[in-house]
Amino acid sequence: MAGMATHRKSGKGRAFPKGRQLQDGALAEVSDLLENQTVKRDRLIEYLHLIQDRFGGLSAAHIRALAEVMALSEAEIFEVASFYAHFDLLKDGEAPPPFTLRVCESLSCEMAGASALFAELEVRHPEMRVRRAPCMGRCEVAPVVAVGHHHIGQADAKSVQAAIGKPLVLPDYEAFEAYREDGGYRVLEACRAGAHSPDEMQEMLLQSGLRGMGGAGFPSGRKWSFVRAEAGPRFMAVNADEGEPGTFKDRYYLEREPHAMLEGMLIAAWAVAAEKIYIYLRDEYPEIHRILSIELQALENAGLVAPDYIELRRGAGAYICGEESAMIESLEGKRGLPRLRPPYVAQAGIFGRPTLVHNVETLHWISKIARGGADIFKSHEKNGRSGLRSYSVSGRVRYPGVKLLPAGSTILDIIKASGGMAEGHEFYAYQPGGPSSGLLPARLDQVPLDFDTLQEYGSFIGSAAVVVLSDQDSLRDAALNMLRFFAAESCGQCTPCRVGCEKAVRIMEDKWDRPLLEDLCEAMAEASICGLGQAAPNPILTVLRYFPEAV
Ligand SMILES: Cc1cc2nc3c(=O)[nH]c(=O)nc-3n(C[C@H](O)[C@H](O)[C@H](O)COP(=O)(O)O)c2cc1C
Ligand code: SF4
Repeated sequence: MAGMATHRKSGKGRAFPKGRQLQDGALAEVSDLLENQTVKRDRLIEYLHLIQDRFGGLSAAHIRALAEVMALSEAEIFEVASFYAHFDLLKDGEAPPPFTLRVCESLSCEMAGASALFAELEVRHPEMRVRRAPCMGRCEVAPVVAVGHHHIGQADAKSVQAAIGKPLVLPDYEAFEAYREDGGYRVLEACRAGAHSPDEMQEMLLQSGLRGMGGAGFPSGRKWSFVRAEAGPRFMAVNADEGEPGTFKDRYYLEREPHAMLEGMLIAAWAVAAEKIYIYLRDEYPEIHRILSIELQALENAGLVAPDYIELRRGAGAYICGEESAMIESLEGKRGLPRLRPPYVAQAGIFGRPTLVHNVETLHWISKIARGGADIFKSHEKNGRSGLRSYSVSGRVRYPGVKLLPAGSTILDIIKASGGMAEGHEFYAYQPGGPSSGLLPARLDQVPLDFDTLQEYGSFIGSAAVVVLSDQDSLRDAALNMLRFFAAESCGQCTPCRVGCEKAVRIMEDKWDRPLLEDLCEAMAEASICGLGQAAPNPILTVLRYFPEAV
């Protein structure tokens, strides 16, 4: 029933005769929240957010009421809600948790003193809930603390205290009018008016050499051709989950020029004739959620997109939902469990339909290339490689941040672009592309950090999340930090990954038993369904290979 929540009466005809008693008050509250919405199964995670935002947690009574409204079983809702770290499930009669401080525990934050800050905050704020949490995508200002919805960079006890109760502040970004005045959306309009064909734009992408910036590096033009080869209807999903620790380039672009991504998205959607677009944005980026909500409305007001053509969705704290098939499960309102392939998402993605999935930065470049031609990307050459990379740089450098450099840049180029090493630190090791890429020694300083250049070193560039480590950092601790992350984020679907990550953590906390770790790594790499389990051994194997003295 369009325009309002569909309510099913309790009692006769209920979809689930067993379970907790429906409470009229909770049902009225949930119904009020969903008023003016067409209740859809795939929007379950959005509804859970609505309830939690309003009531501070997910009570059993509200879950029961939501089950009623959605004609689902309580168990189904509970199963989904409990999968995501950001949902607080409350037992009967339990009060919502107190105000929460989340201290980032990723490698860059740890190196910047997050553990000590966590301990201090726990002592200073006994009235609050102080938690450790995975990477918040702001590593250039480590250590980071989330104070409710706020994220405080270079945090200390004082700045955390000062942020409590403050409203969200949006960064100064290029809004619709400014982008439009600067020639924005002209290429899109030309495409739609028939001045360019999808084949032509696809060819331009192939010529540019653009590859997926989400980590897998699949040539973007080829991806379009695969999706276009499938019979419609087709969908599109924008991957704005940016969960790989150390990565913050997507946030960087969205906080500055969101319309570059949005126009790239609309050009790509036009090329594959997508019926609808979903943007899956990580929950750690509330400012960007606000920016995108405003700017999507501006696109609608300008008549560039039809109402409801684009749906903005909020993730809920699950790294695995960055993996494209898990993201699609989440977009369908389910737990983020990666799917077995084939079929690939280009063949059977959202609701089983062919789906084009692109990372935010890939789309950013698509609009730039569509406007400026293949050469604006391709002409950047270095060390035999062409193209550009947005390296997210953090750790022991003087000026961390996103560094846009030729794709063939080496770690020395990146350190130089970051102002050199931080005072008092000597370059010792680096993580080239998130924890999935492991750790390389400083002596490998002539390798271009691009797709396909790091395999022989047991690594890969992934999302280009570079963390620079110094003589003062422990490689053993760094690798353990990475494996703890994988153990916490494994979806648990396959045994080698679930058990392997946990077991590896236990061994690494104790004495590194090389034969045992190597066996474990082999099983994980070979028998895991998705990239998480397949790449999780990399920190262990690279430390064993390059830094045997560290363990
Ligand atoms: C464990 C795992 C996590 C991932 N996380 C992300 C992510 O946060 N953002 C992203 O764009 N891609 C991520 N990817 C890659 C996506 O599966 C997919 O390749 C990408 O979104 C495709 O877009 P692209 O071709 O434009 O890069 C992840 C992959 C794996 C295996
Ligand atoms: S490899 Fe790990 S994260 Fe991936 S599907 Fe298997 S258990 Fe889940």
